[in-house]
Amino acid sequence: MGNPIEIDYRLAMATAAGVGGLTDAELDAMLLRAAAATKTLVERCDRGELGFFRLPDDSAIVTEVQAMAASVPTGLTDALVLGVGGSSLGARAAYDALGNGRDGSLTLHFPDNADPHRLAGLLATLDPRSTLVVLVSKSGGTLETAAQTLISLDWLERALGVVTRDHVVAITDPVAGSLRALATSRGWKTLPIPSNVGGRFSVLSAAGLFPLALAGIDVARLALGARDAMRACESLDARTNPAAVFAALHVAHLERKRHSVHVFMPYSDALRTVGSWFVQLWAESLGKRFDRSGERVERGPTPVVAVGSTDQHAQVQLFIEGPRDKLVCLLRVDEPTSTDLVIPPSDGPFAFLSGRSMHEVVVAQLEGTALALACDDRPSVTLRIAKLDALSLGAIFFMLEVATAIAGDLLDVDAFDQPGVEQGKRITLGMLGRSNAETDAARARLAQADDRHRLPVR
Ligand code: PA5
Repeated sequence: MGNPIEIDYRLAMATAAGVGGLTDAELDAMLLRAAAATKTLVERCDRGELGFFRLPDDSAIVTEVQAMAASVPTGLTDALVLGVGGSSLGARAAYDALGNGRDGSLTLHFPDNADPHRLAGLLATLDPRSTLVVLVSKSGGTLETAAQTLISLDWLERALGVVTRDHVVAITDPVAGSLRALATSRGWKTLPIPSNVGGRFSVLSAAGLFPLALAGIDVARLALGARDAMRACESLDARTNPAAVFAALHVAHLERKRHSVHVFMPYSDALRTVGSWFVQLWAESLGKRFDRSGERVERGPTPVVAVGSTDQHAQVQLFIEGPRDKLVCLLRVDEPTSTDLVIPPSDGPFAFLSGRSMHEVVVAQLEGTALALACDDRPSVTLRIAKLDALSLGAIFFMLEVATAIAGDLLDVDAFDQPGVEQGKRITLGMLGRSNAETDAARARLAQADDRHRLPVR
């Protein structure tokens, strides 16, 4: 395979997946719409309305991030990265995929949840004198991040007396928001998330790249991989544009075959969090109450993450025999990693495994799953990468971001807002004392509930 990424969609088409697959005519019609969507997207990006598309072209971001990482005092060993959703998952996904433990690099920790369990454990074990706290929030006002920030600053202050610039970096909107105001008033070091880049599209901004640079990951190559993908993803020839093909396949399966569950299944433990990143991106971008003209449509696919081969003994049973509502995207890495293991020679029942590597076993399992699905007219796509490294991961991030934007256009929803999440955030703030009409209405709904519908278990 010459290219860093290949989309093998033979088993998503009727020729191999029977009635569960698309005809050429069905896909061609969707690709035509995807080409128009790509044109609109590129125009919006070039007008500066959407910033994520041109991030990989901006070499100043990598330079700034690398310089800031290099300025971290020697002696710091850990970074506590505080952020949620799009402000955490991209960096976490790349960190999990590309490993850690490089000489002189920091170990990253992502508490990523309002549940105090993980943060409490980290604060009990990390040494504040050798920890950098990295605050990541595009809006600068997210509840979880604000709460974790205040707790972590107090933890630093108790140990250090004063929290100096050496221990905190804030990554947020260049001008707006409470985190920007706090960082300015305290004189912390800061990095920007451009105003026209939303949280879940920010992995290739400082939000993702700075923590990764601290961990010694080659962020320049990550950006280079994304830049290579950019060239392919702006092509108006949809058949050769990987983002357009990915989006067209998923939306055509949704519209023509009612395959509304989109499974993303890397056959790699290292790529498990890339699956979570994709699920967040696809769900928050495409699940919408209204279409772009304001009509109530309550539309959107349900993304699901599974991991091969672990989930072959769990969810795959459902995928192969359950409701015919799924398109399964398998993620395959061709080259074994340096941690591959070879099965020693043996005789007896497992002799057939002698001399094979675990990587070969994993690939066979992926192929077996795809074929088992196809034999029962159930479609799958295989996203195939030659090698797992910064270059290919940068390309995957970028390609899936563009595919999400194109899918939003095809589904006629705004892929860049998240009114449902915002509503939840407002109601939660009300529950914590910042009363507002929405919280009162939500409480009134609860008041209508019938207490007979609670079962105390003794
Ligand atoms: O993608 C999004 O917009 C969200 O998932 C946000 O990233 C998440 O809600 C965190 O928001 P913020 O970065 O403003 O703290």
